[in-house]
Amino acid sequence: MNDKELIRVALQARNNSYSPYSRFQVGAALLTSRGLVYTGCNIENAAYAPTNCAERTAFFKAVSEGSYEFQAIAIAGGPKDATTLAICSPCGVCRQVMMEFCNPKTFRILLAKSEEDYEEFTLEQLLPLGFGPKNLEG
Ligand code: THU
Repeated sequence: MNDKELIRVALQARNNSYSPYSRFQVGAALLTSRGLVYTGCNIENAAYAPTNCAERTAFFKAVSEGSYEFQAIAIAGGPKDATTLAICSPCGVCRQVMMEFCNPKTFRILLAKSEEDYEEFTLEQLLPLGFGPKNLEG
């Protein structure tokens, strides 16, 4: 799957966003090393704190189904009624979840306004000096 296709899937996943409180809709599409794609959307809650971001939804779906190695994630987010999107950058908690499963030098994060218009970062760029499983090895 190429970048444009992955972004298209993220934009589709955004339509499933459950965000009645913020009305900020986010979709994600996570590409595994084997070429599978897991989607996610943000899922809010009346108690606010249990809210899950689109990115973590995608990661937790993937891991719970046995996928642990990833190449890239596309993320698209913005207000429900927006006609155009600005880039939506993943929150710190989601970056830390990425750090658990992804190589920070090679994992690609695509922040999309549209299929044609996106910015690309590595995890290392978005989470410099991140703390991950390797740090526990001493
Ligand atoms: N949100 C995400 O799902 N991903 C991001 O990258 C940023 C924020 C969600 C959480 C909440 O439901 C809404 O967007 C507003 O913060």
